[in-house]
Amino acid sequence: MSEPLLRVEGLSKEFGGLVAVGDMTFDIYPGEFVGLIGPNGCGKSTTFNCISGLLPKTTGNIEVCGQDILNLSSDQIQKLGFTRTFQHTRLWREMTVIENLLVPPRNQFSPNKFLALFRPFSRLEEKKRLKRAYEVLRQLEIPHMAHNLASELSGGQSKLVDIGRALMSDPQLLLLDEPVAGVAGPLAMKIFNDLREHVSKTGNSVLIIEHNMDFILRQGVDRIIVMDQGRILMEGTPEEVKDSREVIEAYLGGEGEAETVGEE
Ligand SMILES: Nc1ncnc2c1ncn2[C@@H]1O[C@H](COP(=O)(O)OP(=O)(O)O)[C@@H](O)[C@H]1O
Ligand SMILES: [Mg+2]
Repeated sequence: MSEPLLRVEGLSKEFGGLVAVGDMTFDIYPGEFVGLIGPNGCGKSTTFNCISGLLPKTTGNIEVCGQDILNLSSDQIQKLGFTRTFQHTRLWREMTVIENLLVPPRNQFSPNKFLALFRPFSRLEEKKRLKRAYEVLRQLEIPHMAHNLASELSGGQSKLVDIGRALMSDPQLLLLDEPVAGVAGPLAMKIFNDLREHVSKTGNSVLIIEHNMDFILRQGVDRIIVMDQGRILMEGTPEEVKDSREVIEAYLGGEGEAETVGEE
């Protein structure tokens, strides 16, 4: 197997005595589509926040292509080819959809509109970005919304534009935090299909947080990492996860409902 794109080793993060993430170890390889799941509050978003350099005093090791990134700023991490979305969508509401996509992808980890807007672009670069923005909108099937204000979008549409913004920079690793929460079923499935295709076509990797176990088991991810109470409960293919009694119990909090998990 090739070298991991992302290596997380013994990652821990505490908030005033609460262990939000405790001793997480996992790798993401190039060209992998991986799901990160677990009950509410188990530490999924915190794991993303640690990887993207948003949280101080994180312990453990995080490496990108063999380079230690634990002490890098979120901007420096993004320059290595990582982009993320947030659980709560961060669009610039007073700007149109296309403008949201066109704003340079810098500071995406902690958006700084002022700096981003004033980064100069050459005409050629601008043209390329505009072409790419329309490509992304077509891929997400929302080119007709290019000139809608972000504030006019529904929750699901906002999620789509947020994913679109992340895709603009063609990241080596895309970290998506519950990108389909609040998105209608068929569209949510389409987004997963598109991401699957994106991974196959580009050889880039996607790590996606999804809270609905039944849903992710059917979305064609290569591997699922299951978290519970800040730790990794198991890693495996959707088939392996579906058959794991441990996972079923942790997820549903009891044996009574176990038979409903993963059943079609
Ligand atoms: N900035 C923070 N300050 C204090 N506690 C936090 C912070 N972020 C998350 N937590 C706590 O850490 C735990 C894990 O949260 P989170 O990573 O958001 O879970 P998930 O994304 O799996 O729902 C929760 O108990 C949450 O309340
Ligand atoms: Mg979360």
